[in-house]
Amino acid sequence: MGEINTLILAAGKGTRMKSHLHKVLQPVCGKAMVDHVLTEVEKLNNSHIVTIIGSDGEDIKECLGDRTEYVVQKEQLGTGHAVLQAEAQLGNSQGNTLVMSGDTPLFTSTTLQKLIHFHCEHNDKITILTSIADDPTGYGRIVRNNDDVIKIVEQKDASDDELKIKEINTGVYVFDNQFLFDALHKINNDNAQHEYYLTDVIKICKDAKEKVSAYIMDDFNESLGVNDRIALARATKIMQRRINLKHMNNGVSIVDPEHTFIDIDVKIGTDTVIESNVHLRGETIIGNNCVIRSGSDISNSVLHDNVTVISSNIEDSEMEDNSDIGPMSHLRPNAHIGKFVHIGNFVEVKKATIGDYTKVGHLTYIGNAKLGSNINVGCGVVFVNYDGKDKHESIVGDHSFLGSNSNIVAPVNISDHSFIAAGSTITDNVNYHDLAIARARQVNKENYWDRLPHKPEDL
Ligand code: UD1
Ligand code: CA
Repeated sequence: MGEINTLILAAGKGTRMKSHLHKVLQPVCGKAMVDHVLTEVEKLNNSHIVTIIGSDGEDIKECLGDRTEYVVQKEQLGTGHAVLQAEAQLGNSQGNTLVMSGDTPLFTSTTLQKLIHFHCEHNDKITILTSIADDPTGYGRIVRNNDDVIKIVEQKDASDDELKIKEINTGVYVFDNQFLFDALHKINNDNAQHEYYLTDVIKICKDAKEKVSAYIMDDFNESLGVNDRIALARATKIMQRRINLKHMNNGVSIVDPEHTFIDIDVKIGTDTVIESNVHLRGETIIGNNCVIRSGSDISNSVLHDNVTVISSNIEDSEMEDNSDIGPMSHLRPNAHIGKFVHIGNFVEVKKATIGDYTKVGHLTYIGNAKLGSNINVGCGVVFVNYDGKDKHESIVGDHSFLGSNSNIVAPVNISDHSFIAAGSTITDNVNYHDLAIARARQVNKENYWDRLPHKPEDL
């Protein structure tokens, strides 16, 4: 097939998006659009992958790292001008070059492979990837004369008749590399947008009596170009369906796929059930047989097998086998929840480990702490971890009992098998088998009723 190079165009301003973020960095299901493009391109057998960025493209470099080479296009003078900037890198290559845009996040490597294969079989100078759009507004139109492609005309330059054409330019092409760079020196910016259009290379090819092919792909949705927020929402919906289908085919039950939002890199085991209105984000991994009940939002976390999450929020944390949480609880970064741990409602855990079989049933804050196994944490326990300046850590040993409404003022060490009386404010260490009571003793004033200014029964 000869050498294949890939060029990704990502220098455009993206003004139609009306955003401070580079257009190609807008996320679709948790991944920047240009990263989606690169991820599919990486599955091809490339000699070079070059990404064209603007002078302000540092954040694109940060996103893609060293998976691609970069070329800076100082001024955004059009897609043709953008490709020409890579002449120093690619100009000498005798093979073919695949050109794509960073704003078409839905292309699959399968389609790209078919296109390259088609191009190499026909041995033409250019193969354009086209598709048929119900509404072609905004796309370049493929103008044919008896079946032969003769040019691409942009929306803004098209005649009324050309505007009716439904076959569109997807912005993906394979070029004979030598032909491409020769032709790019011949294009001008004599058009409605005063830009150097890459698409004008087609006319040059025809004028040189060379043949241009078009490969019509089956599914227009895959070719969606994202220029504004409306298309961004559409692309997200299509990607969301694709992701959900993949998981269902792998044995995950998704109760309401239209309202289940799973980022592209999330992994889920078999027989796990995901209810409606759940968000699974980032690098989250969920094991087998888990139940994620509606309204839960889980990001960058690992849930092992048989874990149940009820309407809760989990960030950068881990839950081991058979643990459960919720409703309405929150694991903030670095919470590590052991096996068979029960976390009930209105509990917040941050930077803390909780050992196997420990129970934290209700209304509790645990921050900067190490809790052992088989502990009972009563209702309303607060780990007081902050002195106004620094955070401090507390430790609680196995089989301890923290009575309801107690405050554990860090740093403090509560040994195994110890007992904290309800309502205590613990500031000192507690030893093995001790009972700690740290509250004022109750005083009963006899016959005080008559001295009360108001009787409760009068109120
Ligand atoms: C382009 C095509 C159009 C096609 C559509 C498919 C041209 C002239 N038009 O239109 O035929 O139907 O894509 O989605 O090519 N870019 C640069 N430097 C520039 C200008 C653009 O790197 O100077 C990059 C952009 O970042 C973007 C890509 O090129 O990723 C395409 O540019 P865009 O302005 O989005 O072109 P469209 O109007 O969508
Ligand atoms: Ca575009």
